[in-house]
Order: sequence, then structure tokens, then C-alpha cells
Amino acid sequence: MAVLDQLTSQQAIELENKYGAHNYHPLPVVLTRGEGVYVWDVDGKKYYDFLSAYSAVNQGHCHPKIVNALVNQSQNLTLTSRAFYNDVLGKYEKYACEYFGFDKLLPMNTGAEAVETALKLCRKWAYEVKGIDENAAEIIVCKNNFHGRTTTIISFSNDPVARKHFGPFTNGFIKIDYNNLEALETALKNNPNVAGFLVEPIQGEAGVYVPDDGYLAKAKKLCEAHNVLFIADEVQTGIARTGKLLAVDYENVKADILILGKAISGGVYPVSAVLANDNIMNVIKPGNHGSTFGGNPLAAAVAMAALEVIKDEQLAENAYKLGNLFRSELQKYIDTSNIVKLVRGKGLLNSILINDDEESDTAWNICLALRDNGLLAKPTHGNIIRFAPPLVMTEEQLLDCVSIIIKTLKQFDS
Ligand SMILES: Cc1ncc(COP(=O)(O)O)c(C=O)c1O
Repeated sequence: MAVLDQLTSQQAIELENKYGAHNYHPLPVVLTRGEGVYVWDVDGKKYYDFLSAYSAVNQGHCHPKIVNALVNQSQNLTLTSRAFYNDVLGKYEKYACEYFGFDKLLPMNTGAEAVETALKLCRKWAYEVKGIDENAAEIIVCKNNFHGRTTTIISFSNDPVARKHFGPFTNGFIKIDYNNLEALETALKNNPNVAGFLVEPIQGEAGVYVPDDGYLAKAKKLCEAHNVLFIADEVQTGIARTGKLLAVDYENVKADILILGKAISGGVYPVSAVLANDNIMNVIKPGNHGSTFGGNPLAAAVAMAALEVIKDEQLAENAYKLGNLFRSELQKYIDTSNIVKLVRGKGLLNSILINDDEESDTAWNICLALRDNGLLAKPTHGNIIRFAPPLVMTEEQLLDCVSIIIKTLKQFDS
């Protein structure tokens, strides 16, 4: 078989099974093309993408402006490493700092790397500015978090599948319940070694779990009162997904450290970033941290274009409007249905809770039926299905998707 031969679905799946590590359990569909809200499989069947690569493709598949930026930059200069300056990185850093309202940006590639960066930055600030004794800093995190897959990050996960047989783990984390201000206050009180509070404004992987109104603003205030950094992981919620540029914007919260990934490149190239003001970011000195690819000119050009698209096309506003419509349309069906318990979310980051055990395969089977009906989505946990389409969707397309989802759910309703 020549490398560029068109594969059948079966062949593509067999190749991945045989030669790829089995670290994912993909829905059986083999995609070959994407444009806007649509993707096509190798047999030419068209689907609505209702996952957007876990909220990376907010700007829609192969957005022409972002792809043009990629093509143009790739013909000039792709990688210098940070051993030398390049003439795009500074422009991007200025653009992104002004865009999100911070003094400085530290460029990385993946979400997990950006989270690691934020943790290191927080610890260094704790020792050098807050004055915590060496190796004593602690960072508060929330149960059921998802921040990525590195050894330190899984050290404070409570997902047994993500952790088992990967120890020993990294110390220095205090786990508390999400959406529980009392737990946060208790963890902060009388503990001068707390350096930061790392939180997802909505817990995405946990099943799109939205905290109570006011939680983030009050958590930020508690952190301020204890001289603790509020670290917002907006890798999944950020960049217009939830109907605002950042999910913390709903509560007018300004994070001390902001973590971005996924949609900062529109899904075109791995780009992530950590933003903070000088009083925090200036603790980082040459040699402390970095990555060969972080801040490369290709990533910088792509990210600038991707951020421009968000503003040019008013994608936060669209996500806000379509999100309300999506939840209200689905709610009408849920009121009459046995198969779905609830719909929840903000903007176009939503999930439905299937009325079955967490261990059942009903949600998986619903996703297979959605696929057959022309829409791609995936369960997050057992009985929860996440719905996160590209934000370039029109109202007409969204209503078409709602009718596909309802038609499919009816197949399972008793
Ligand atoms: C909130 C959050 N943080 C971090 C990550 C990790 O990002 P990546 O998969 O790019 O490492 C994810 C991925 O889903 C995420 O949802």
C-alpha cells in the first residue's frame, strides 16, 4: 500500500489499531476533510462536527484566514528556536497581551505544557515574591479536574484510569471540592504555604459542570485576601467558547495567571500560552523554562490570525446566542423525555446527562446513532455527552443539529 493511497475506513482503523498505541477509544468514523462546521469521512459522508476537537476548532475547520497565515508564514520561516529572535513572536505577544489585558505572555505548544508552565510560575513567585520557604509551596486544585496528562498534572487528578501505575507522583497539591467556597476558605485559612488556586471556570472533561453564579468572583476575592494567585485554566473554556471571550468574564474576574491553548490556534497548529502581569512573570529568567517549538514564528502567525477571526466574526456573541437557543430547544424535548435528565452549559459548551448508569454504554450507543444521523459527538464520562460545535455555526444549522439530536434521542426513549 503506497503511503498516499486513499484508505477505506476499515483499513485506516486497522492501521491505527495495529501500529498506534491504544491510548484513545475513538468513535468509529474516519475523517478526511473539514470545512467550517462540517467534516467528511473517507466515503464522502458529511457530518456536523459537534466536538470541535475538544473545543480547539472554535473558528471552524480550515478557516481560510488562519490557513493563509499558516501557508504564508511557512514559506518564510517556521522555526528558529528561542536561541535567536524572530520577527513574528514579539508582534504576537503584543497582540495577545493587549487582547487579553496582561503585561506578558509565555508561549508554549500544548495545553498540558501551559498548565505545567503556570504551576512552575506560581511556585517561583511563591518563593521569590511571597516568601514561602523553599519546597514548601502548595497549590490548591479541585476534585474531578482535568488539566492534561503530564506526570505532575495527573498527580492531582482523581481519575483512577489516568493515574494507575503512573506513580510516583509530584507533591505540593491540596485537593478540594469544586464549587465549594467553604472548602476553599478552609484550605486557605492558616496555611501561609498556599501559593495558588488552579481552577477550570467550567469543568469540561468532568462533564461540563458549571459552578454556581458568583463562585469564581468569590474565589478570586478569597485568593486576594490570602495573597494567593488565582490561576484560570481556560484551555477549553477560553477564546469565545462559552459566549464570552473568557469564561471568567461572566463574573468580571481577572486571573493572576491565565492559561490558554486549543482554540488560540483555531485547531490549525499546537499553540498554548500563559499570561500574567510583570509582578508575576518577571520571576522567570533565562534558562528557567522553555520549549524548542514554543513561540515559533509559524505558531505566532497562526495564533494572531485565529484571535483576529474571533473578533472579526463576533464568535463570542454568536456562541452566547446559539448556546441559549440550543439549551432552550433541548429543554423542551427533555421535559417530555425519559432518556435525558438535563442539559447544562454556557455558550456552545454544553452537555446532556443520559438517564442511565455511569457504567452503561447508552451514551456511547447514542453517539454511534448520532454519527449515523450525521452528527459527531462523544461521551465525556459514562453517561454524559458533550456538545461543542464550532462557533461559526449559523442559527439554521444549529436548529438542524437540534432536530438530528432529538430524532436520535427519540430512538432511545422508552
Ligand atoms: C481545561 C483543560 N486544561 C488542559 C488541557 C490539556 O490540553 P492538551 O490536551 O492540549 O494538553 C485540557 C484538554 O482537554 C483541558 O480541557
